[in-house]
Amino acid sequence: MAGHEAATPTTGRPHGARHTADRFAAVYGAAPTGIWAAPGRVNLIGEHTDYNDGFVLPLALPHTTLAAAAPRTDGVLRLHSGGADGGVVELRIDALRPTAQGGWAAYPAGIVWAMREAGLPVGGADLHYDSTVPTGAGLSSSAALEVATALALNDLYALGLEPQRLARIAQRAENAFVGVPCGIMDQTAAACCTEGHALFLDTRDLTHRQVPFDLAGEGLRLLVVDTRVKHELGDGAYAERRAGCERGARALGVRALRDVSGAHLPEALAELAGEPGVPALVRHIVTENQRVEEVIACLDAGRTRAIGPLLTAGHASLRDDFAISCPELDLVVDTALAAGALGARMTGGGFGGSAIVLVEEAAAAGIGTAVTEAFAAAGHLEPRIFEAVPSAGAHRLQ
Ligand code: GLA
Repeated sequence: MAGHEAATPTTGRPHGARHTADRFAAVYGAAPTGIWAAPGRVNLIGEHTDYNDGFVLPLALPHTTLAAAAPRTDGVLRLHSGGADGGVVELRIDALRPTAQGGWAAYPAGIVWAMREAGLPVGGADLHYDSTVPTGAGLSSSAALEVATALALNDLYALGLEPQRLARIAQRAENAFVGVPCGIMDQTAAACCTEGHALFLDTRDLTHRQVPFDLAGEGLRLLVVDTRVKHELGDGAYAERRAGCERGARALGVRALRDVSGAHLPEALAELAGEPGVPALVRHIVTENQRVEEVIACLDAGRTRAIGPLLTAGHASLRDDFAISCPELDLVVDTALAAGALGARMTGGGFGGSAIVLVEEAAAAGIGTAVTEAFAAAGHLEPRIFEAVPSAGAHRLQ
């Protein structure tokens, strides 16, 4: 779906609740009922496991999408973005049809559609958005937009839904209304993460645990390097990987690849010899689930530095077995490691977007410079580098 990343509004500049309330009033001529925020995310480890019933470990970024909203009684949905051209998008909620709506407005419209589909008493609304979540960078700007909208409507219409239910509604909106076959990780991260933690989510039963991730306290930094290579989740490659995993599970007679253990992997790979391309996908998923568990064990034991090699092994698996890296992501990882990083990997859907790099605080600036210089030498666009501070999930600001 070509619109996936172009779809989400980003103003790119710092904003606050007051600014967003003022913008709402300027657009709609009255004050909003409230302001809600939902963050972007990076995934520490557990990539492409979420549609295989596996494990993921994302954390929320300080970058957020703000939604200012007020209810309407006439069944009209009006949407406006500080970061998108084209003025106010006006839709009738009873006329919303899956995949009919294009552009960024499909995400919030999809939330209203999914809520109504679920039989929830949600009506029209006026919404204005401002966002600092980079788009097309693999940082889940779409999930931030969806979850900010879902939380706003939850409050406006007193639906009383739990964060995880909002995440499922957001995933349904993206799958069925927007038409992107994503898993549940990004929406859950946006809805459920907490400050200072990574979120360990079992995507089979959706149980989760907040895992303390105190980088600063340990003299560490997690850098995000946005390669500025635009990824497109819906361009077919994501769906292709997903279909390959499902083929593997069927051939092995399991419900999902989550059910293949590390001990059983050699046997499973032998069984899949007649399925071209599938064994490597299966190997990635099985070893990635193991890496999530090993990373959690390190974090639980207070051995944060020890996760570095696991992150790097995850990158190798995504590059060589899952085949979703790209030269720019590989260059970030190789350069950062050569410059002394503890570990590095691509994060998110792949084919561009961002990498994460775990570094000693004192080495952060030098490693960032090394990556920037390597990009210049290779003739790539200048990467955007910032720090991932584990931040709060979706919440109401006022
Ligand atoms: C995208 C999808 C997620 C997940 C990741 C890969 O971010 O939206 O559901 O599959 O890719 O881990």
